[in-house]
Amino acid sequence: MNGTDPSESDPTDPTDPGRADAAAQPAGTWVERDAAVVWHGFTQMGAYVESAPLVIDRAEGRELIDADGRRYLDAISSLWVNTLGHGVPELNAALAAQAAKVAHSTMLGNGNTVVVELAEALAPVVPVDDPHFLFAADGAVAVEQALKIAYQYWVNRGVEGRTRFLALGDAYHGDTIGSLSLGDGGVFSAVFEPLCFPVIRTPGYADPGWAAKACATIDAHADELAAVVLEPLVQGASGMLCASASDVRQVGEACRQAGVLVVCDEVATGFGRTGTLFASEQCGLRPDLLCLGKGITGGYLAMSATVASGDVFGAFLGPDLGPLTFYHGHSYGGNALAAAVALEHLRLIESWDVLANVRARAEQLAVLLDERFAGRAGVRAVRQRGLMVGVELDPPEPGLRWGRRVCAGAVSRGVLLRPLGDVVVLMPPLTITGDEVVRMVDALDGALDEVTGSGGGGAPGA
Ligand SMILES: Cc1ncc(COP(=O)(O)O)c(C=O)c1O
Repeated sequence: MNGTDPSESDPTDPTDPGRADAAAQPAGTWVERDAAVVWHGFTQMGAYVESAPLVIDRAEGRELIDADGRRYLDAISSLWVNTLGHGVPELNAALAAQAAKVAHSTMLGNGNTVVVELAEALAPVVPVDDPHFLFAADGAVAVEQALKIAYQYWVNRGVEGRTRFLALGDAYHGDTIGSLSLGDGGVFSAVFEPLCFPVIRTPGYADPGWAAKACATIDAHADELAAVVLEPLVQGASGMLCASASDVRQVGEACRQAGVLVVCDEVATGFGRTGTLFASEQCGLRPDLLCLGKGITGGYLAMSATVASGDVFGAFLGPDLGPLTFYHGHSYGGNALAAAVALEHLRLIESWDVLANVRARAEQLAVLLDERFAGRAGVRAVRQRGLMVGVELDPPEPGLRWGRRVCAGAVSRGVLLRPLGDVVVLMPPLTITGDEVVRMVDALDGALDEVTGSGGGGAPGA
């Protein structure tokens, strides 16, 4: 590891630089060492080793490189967080410069210059009036904060009874208990149902009448609703279910008329994914609370934010230590390293005209998806908004794990994909090139042939 041949080192000599490595080097492959000590999220660890996981060692551009030196196009943007690619010199420089100043100082009761600069830079571009930023580290926490703020907003204003939330069918807002309560359950979270609080639920984007149903329910429950929470344009984790901008706008207007707060969860759609900086813009929505995460630092560091409008923020102003205060905050909220990278990231989105690339590559991708997959045997639907794509497979019977197997086929072709059930997600970095779009589609095409052409049999491989 340090260039010394361990066979020549003397483990009894405390001055021998190879001694520590020779004595401490764990046995086994990287996957075995990983499985011995790491617990991976959303992963059955009993099956981890056999599922041929990649252990990534480094990255260049939009490619991840594993411990054996194999390269993979990161076509899921490392779980939807990466925007500009990996190892961006400008982001690296911003990170190093901030590390030389201060890595972190608490935001509880005190400020930090780079966090102020980030909030100042975000303020004119977020679709929120007179915005105020409460920073955290994960998307689920941004949602959790929004829930608590919306609830306390009505308490602070002395309005009784507005204690409930309306969330949509197929919604996903994160894995903490509050955000999980807003989510529409499903097999993975069923075990936690007894811990969750009840919400008013109306159908999600899979139902063409979802907006009218939501509007009617908002109207009927106006007096008890604190807020409506939605993912504008795309319900990502439920398989890239898409809504029209006008339907989302209609629901926003129903909230305004009923005096109900609107919370837009743009953890997945934010920072350019759908072709505009925020999806709310396309819907003509200016939410009271906006949740940001994932792409905010370009995929470098854990950062999220709950953005509150001036009206919401104002309801929390009052005497020091008084009951109007929002008593909530996280140790790493507003981390200075993350803020410095997020600030530079925002500047690069603008100066590289990243949104123009998103729109051009999205158009190219739409044509290719249509040519190769629309109406093809084994494919039920193709859904796309910008560079968020779901290719829903159509296995002849349940339990064939087509999603897993098609993605494993793509990985074997050098393109990293990860499914949501039987929906294959394509979510490449926003700087993807035309050639890389073709590489991604070719890999999916080949993998589909392999799995669906074989009649669905064969080894799972994932
Ligand atoms: C819309 C939405 N909200 C919230 C989250 C949770 O974000 P995190 O995984 O950073 O907690 C996700 C994650 O996929 C998401 O898609």
